[in-house]
Amino acid sequence: MTEIEKYFNLSDVGAQFPDKVTRLSCDGEVYFLKRRVSDRLVRRKLMRLVQRFLLKILRLKILAPTTNVRKSSAYEPKKLIKLADLGLNVPKVLFFNDDYFIMSDCGMTLKGFAKRNPDLANDYLQQAIRHLAELHNSGHAHGGAQIRNFAVKDGQICLFDFEEIIPKKYCEEMQFRDILVFLISLSRSKRLIVDYRGLLEAYDQVAEAKGRVQRLLLMGRRYRWLAGLAKSRFPTLFGMDVYYLSMLIGHLLALQGDQSEVTYD
Ligand SMILES: Nc1ncnc2c1ncn2[C@@H]1O[C@H](COP(=O)(O)OP(=O)(O)O)[C@@H](O)[C@H]1O
Ligand SMILES: [Mg+2]
Repeated sequence: MTEIEKYFNLSDVGAQFPDKVTRLSCDGEVYFLKRRVSDRLVRRKLMRLVQRFLLKILRLKILAPTTNVRKSSAYEPKKLIKLADLGLNVPKVLFFNDDYFIMSDCGMTLKGFAKRNPDLANDYLQQAIRHLAELHNSGHAHGGAQIRNFAVKDGQICLFDFEEIIPKKYCEEMQFRDILVFLISLSRSKRLIVDYRGLLEAYDQVAEAKGRVQRLLLMGRRYRWLAGLAKSRFPTLFGMDVYYLSMLIGHLLALQGDQSEVTYD
């Protein structure tokens, strides 16, 4: 039994900590306890159905569900340990079993940080997308790379929330989707003024796989009709995800509109 387990007497974790994630304080240190909650499986299965439907009507291959929603014990802590061994900045796992795990504190979410520190936001977003590229270079993908799943502590970016099980054959596609999900998530932070060009350049500099930024820009051109949705009378007609995607398409087109500065060729 680890020190922290003794401290909290973790005999019936489900009853003691009903939430999926609980912040714990122990001897002045902060930890997070995360439980494996199965009811999300139902929600995720539903999400897959919605994604399939969107895929059909919008013909967007990139929205195709690729993750595996099979129940898998201790998947997340094992993945965190593997990534830490590869030198990536992820929470340190102090204890795990099939039902829950305890990890170190990664600090404030990047979403919260960017909101509170608008002047520093673009620097940290670039640092975050470089970390994402490093994760991709190590042969892994995140599967939920929204900025709320990155954190900032002592000026360092940390990646967390690795719940998605990504079959090897979908890894490359998921890596591309990670970039897309990261960029789309920025639209949710209303007041953020994002330097998209800086972000794409930062990813491109670090990523070993080349051509992803070009693919993203091409996607922007291919779905240019979708950019109009964000400015239409019913922008959220197809749901918030498609609305935010349409905003991103608009940003990608704006980047390409200024040909003199486009450096991705
Ligand atoms: N290691 C950690 N360090 C700091 N905050 C964390 C950590 N783990 C979880 N959190 C907080 O708990 C929230 C939910 O955790 P997360 O692992 O993202 O689960 P969910 O699947 O519900 O998104 C995060 O958005 C973050 O605020
Ligand atoms: Mg999360």
